Amino acid sequence: MPFFIVTVDGGAASGKSSTSKLLASKLNLLYAGTGLYYRALTRFFLDRKISPDDKMAIAVGLNELLFLIEVKVKGREAVFFLGDKAMTEDELKADDITKYVSTFAAIPEIRSFLKEFQRSHVDVAQRYGFNGLIMEGRDIGSVIFPLAEFRFFLEASEESRQQRRQKEGFSDSIHERDLADSTRSTAPLVCPDGAIRIDNSNKSLFEVAQAMLDVIQSTADAK
Ligand code: DC
Repeated sequence: MPFFIVTVDGGAASGKSSTSKLLASKLNLLYAGTGLYYRALTRFFLDRKISPDDKMAIAVGLNELLFLIEVKVKGREAVFFLGDKAMTEDELKADDITKYVSTFAAIPEIRSFLKEFQRSHVDVAQRYGFNGLIMEGRDIGSVIFPLAEFRFFLEASEESRQQRRQKEGFSDSIHERDLADSTRSTAPLVCPDGAIRIDNSNKSLFEVAQAMLDVIQSTADAK
């Protein structure tokens, strides 16, 4: 099959990243978890004590960020760099970031700033010889890659998502974040038109990945 794009969207703790990473390894895809990108920018603004309401300061910050952000490939993962610092998942799951990330992510200028950056991952994945790109987030299938070959939307009950977070050992206001993410006016969290919905409340990671794999493989076989 020629180079292809897989998008995976869904609410907080809906299993997007673990399933996407598994698919990336099975199909040799570049994996990008864009929640970390919004978290990294939130870290940047919080560290500078810039309020989400201060439009001018946000614009100045984004100008500075233009020269700072970069994606590097480590194994099959796209790693977000701010200057020469790799922004790691551990530090980006900090409580203060989790508390404010939805507020910063609702700012249209921040979203459009990241749009082309996320789209540029196609070139990166091709340059590195991957078979495709799998990107997960909230608006990947609806806004970033609406024409992707495969678009999935993962769902799970709030209870099972809370349990997942507890097992991972950090606190998260899943309900509040989903509400903020799905009611913002720019690129809200939605199941993209035509995307395949998978409820994984009672499914293992492997079952979900297999269901996605089946969809991809049946298309590949038909070609
Ligand atoms: O995937 P995550 O829970 O780490 O994402 C953190 C926040 O980033 C999420 O609450 C909303 C925002 N986000 C977004 O608005 N759009 C994306 N494509 C990915 C994340």
